[in-house]
Amino acid sequence: MKIQIHKGKPADVSETCTRVVFVEKGVERLVREDGIDSLHIVSGKLDKITPRTFRTLMRTIIQSAKRNKLSEIAIELSPEMFPKTSMYDANWFWSTVAENLILAEYEHTQYKSIQPKDRVEEVCIVTNDTESAKRGIERGCIVGEYANVCRDIANTTGGDMTPEKLGNIAKKICKNPKTKVTVLDLNAIKKLGMGGLIGVGQGAKAKPRFIVIEYNALPKGKKAKEGPVVLVGKGITFDTGGLQVKPGMSMYEMHMDMSGGASVIATLGAIAKLGLQKHIVGLIPAAENAISDEAMRPGDVLTMMSGKTVEVLHTDAEGRLILADALHYARKYNPSLVVDVATLTGAAGVAVGQHANVILTKSRVLEDSFRELGEESGDYTFPLPLWDEYMQYTKGTHADISNIASGDSRYGGTINGAAFLAHFTKKMKWVHIDMAPRMTSVPSDKLAKGATGEPVRLLVKIAEAF
Ligand code: BES
Ligand code: MN
Ligand code: ZN
Repeated sequence: MKIQIHKGKPADVSETCTRVVFVEKGVERLVREDGIDSLHIVSGKLDKITPRTFRTLMRTIIQSAKRNKLSEIAIELSPEMFPKTSMYDANWFWSTVAENLILAEYEHTQYKSIQPKDRVEEVCIVTNDTESAKRGIERGCIVGEYANVCRDIANTTGGDMTPEKLGNIAKKICKNPKTKVTVLDLNAIKKLGMGGLIGVGQGAKAKPRFIVIEYNALPKGKKAKEGPVVLVGKGITFDTGGLQVKPGMSMYEMHMDMSGGASVIATLGAIAKLGLQKHIVGLIPAAENAISDEAMRPGDVLTMMSGKTVEVLHTDAEGRLILADALHYARKYNPSLVVDVATLTGAAGVAVGQHANVILTKSRVLEDSFRELGEESGDYTFPLPLWDEYMQYTKGTHADISNIASGDSRYGGTINGAAFLAHFTKKMKWVHIDMAPRMTSVPSDKLAKGATGEPVRLLVKIAEAF
């Protein structure tokens, strides 16, 4: 989809282009007056629209245009029309416009033999503020398009995805003179002693990979005071649960268990395209949690890269095992901040429903800042506690620690997952994002079914802000 900017009024644009008109009451409908089509979108009073409802409004326009088979539309827009969004600047406004139009236009077409025809090909943004519109829309197009790249990767079936393929995708998506992508194979992983990644991947024919994406565009001669921001993404290409196999329908959609990894790959692609003058590293431990005679067994003890030993009390708590090695590996960069993104626990959705990513960190400052950036980006986040009190549940009986809490498993599953990871992030500034609640869209998101592309918008903001 192309987004173009025009100065003036929608009527000036073109007669073949349908104008979008915001109406307070009535129904959404296509109106033909004096030979000009207009699409009436019910928005309520524009001065009541908040940053949150503004995003949904932009998405509604595209969904309605698709339903009415309008391939070209013109929308008159300016920040002044939406006074409640004025807490953010014009760059935010225009970027948000582009991001949400593009997110709403996305369809997962990879497996369709007949391509859907009702796509929106061109949007003309009509405004007087063309200078800042150009800048913001340029950013928003990049962010929106890479969030859609993330959705394409995450939506790829388990049968079509392996750790090796994920590595090749990272190489393709992140191809840039300032980016170096290295994919470590099983031998290299063994040399590093990544017992968690080896253990989880050992049941599958497709062997694990460790994907390292390093983007460095710091101005020459300017030595950074601090190390890079390191983004770590869970890359389980399919999660059967392992020998403790997932029951019934809970294995459905587990091809999306690499959504965290996909979001890190897409983010590294986006920031290179944006040309941020930063040093950012992406790490994706990738494995398939499969079932075979070689799969890790309940009770097995793994020796992690950090030297800690882990008792596998549950083969389905695999994400934390691969992330632990990646988080330990992150140390070598002396990072200023480490953020991991993972579809780690079903319990996260039990806690917050399907409208927020759960964040856990021991830093109140980071917690507040991530909540703010969540609001600003549209990838909403909400915290759970990660207090020292929770650390007791990760103690092991036969090894140093265990990968699930011993005791009543109904309680604090998401916190226990984060508490396990905390053993591998000592002395680093770290935020854990459990994105399981946002892995797939819900109808009120006004997005295509399947992957949401979260939290790419948030990760880009983090890369810009830190
Ligand atoms: N990938 C799953 C978590 C998940 C479930 C993500 C549903 C998205 C939707 C993860 O590997 C898992 O299986 N977690 C277990 C942890 C348990 C064994 C402690 C879970 O949530 O049941
Ligand atoms: Mn699992
Ligand atoms: Zn998993």
